[in-house]
Amino acid sequence: MQNPPVFRTHDAASRPVVAIQHPDDVFETLFQSIQGGEQHVRPPLELRPDSPFLTFIEVGYALRACLEDKSRRDYLVQRLRPHVSAIIGTLPAGLQPQGMLPRVPAPPGFRPLEQIGDAEVRAWLVEDGGLIYGELQRHELDNYFDAIAAVIRPGGVMVDLGSGLGKVVMSAALAFPFQRCIGVELIGYRHAMAAQRLHNLLALAGKALAALPSPLTPETPLRLPFGGEANGSHLLDLASRIAFIEADMFRVDVRGASLVFMYSTCFGPLMDALGDKLAREMQEGALVSTTTYPLTHPAFKLLCSYPAGTLAWTNVMLYQRAGPLENVVTTAATTYEPDPAAWEERLRQEFAAMDDRVLK
Ligand SMILES: C[S@@+](CC[C@H](N)C(=O)[O-])C[C@H]1O[C@@H](n2cnc3c(N)ncnc32)[C@H](O)[C@@H]1O
Repeated sequence: MQNPPVFRTHDAASRPVVAIQHPDDVFETLFQSIQGGEQHVRPPLELRPDSPFLTFIEVGYALRACLEDKSRRDYLVQRLRPHVSAIIGTLPAGLQPQGMLPRVPAPPGFRPLEQIGDAEVRAWLVEDGGLIYGELQRHELDNYFDAIAAVIRPGGVMVDLGSGLGKVVMSAALAFPFQRCIGVELIGYRHAMAAQRLHNLLALAGKALAALPSPLTPETPLRLPFGGEANGSHLLDLASRIAFIEADMFRVDVRGASLVFMYSTCFGPLMDALGDKLAREMQEGALVSTTTYPLTHPAFKLLCSYPAGTLAWTNVMLYQRAGPLENVVTTAATTYEPDPAAWEERLRQEFAAMDDRVLK
């Protein structure tokens, strides 16, 4: 019988690497340099006429106006309630004080909620949920890499859909002998931060490699941090093995991916559409992992499922694209179905708590 996996439960205290003696020190230096992104300040979106988020901002302003005016809260509840399956949590993230809506007043011409249709409200909620930011902590990502190490083959392309500041993409490129690791991120500032972090990582890699007592050549055998084998080009060619793309993940073809990673905890209402997309594009045998929400599309076979509190704080699932699509009967599964009455009760409690905070 196989031993159950042993999961790390917290990040080990990271000691700065003071001397680079061995390639392991290079890896550790680089891993340390890409931590901590989840604490970054999230700037509000810019209100400018050419913003790709202009409709998102307009609808968000209309909703926020109803939230701020107590006499319009019942109307807000009435408009949101049909779409609870598109809301992550209770009060949509964009309407919370730290949300990404600009802080400046609405410009003339923006529509009030009464003039905004249900489909637009729903689309706003889905987009708003997807834009929430979070990262797995280092020990969780290490657990994840341990868990997938046995099924990763050398070569292949790893893709992170919704790559944020790029931690998973850069970590995967260090951890595994992928030919290429690609991050796809919708929000411009996050993409820019990922590009900057990659720039920093490459500069640091150059310095750390130069500090090795015996220089690494492309042919030097290299033991990888999660058990695989590679050679020196794994680190020497890091620049050509990592790429970030600023794009909507639904517009990027993942046909060539051997592993698609999604930190999908805020993608609940998007999961069915993502499942359809991945089933159409991915090759038989390719892997997908999700957090929190399952992929219910029948083209994917569940390989492993790690309950919340084991591999990571939330559950993590690993799937494999199985069988030709012609033989697969698509089911209209809905993966995210909260109870509207319970949601409304929680929302009204949040309104009361908000008003209390204002009074104090
Ligand atoms: C929970 S964060 C995960 C970040 C990163 N994958 C990680 O695990 O460290 C999800 C990211 O998905 C991005 N996102 C949401 N919808 C997207 C879309 N349609 N296309 C690309 N990125 C999207 C968000 O902006 C956010 O940065």
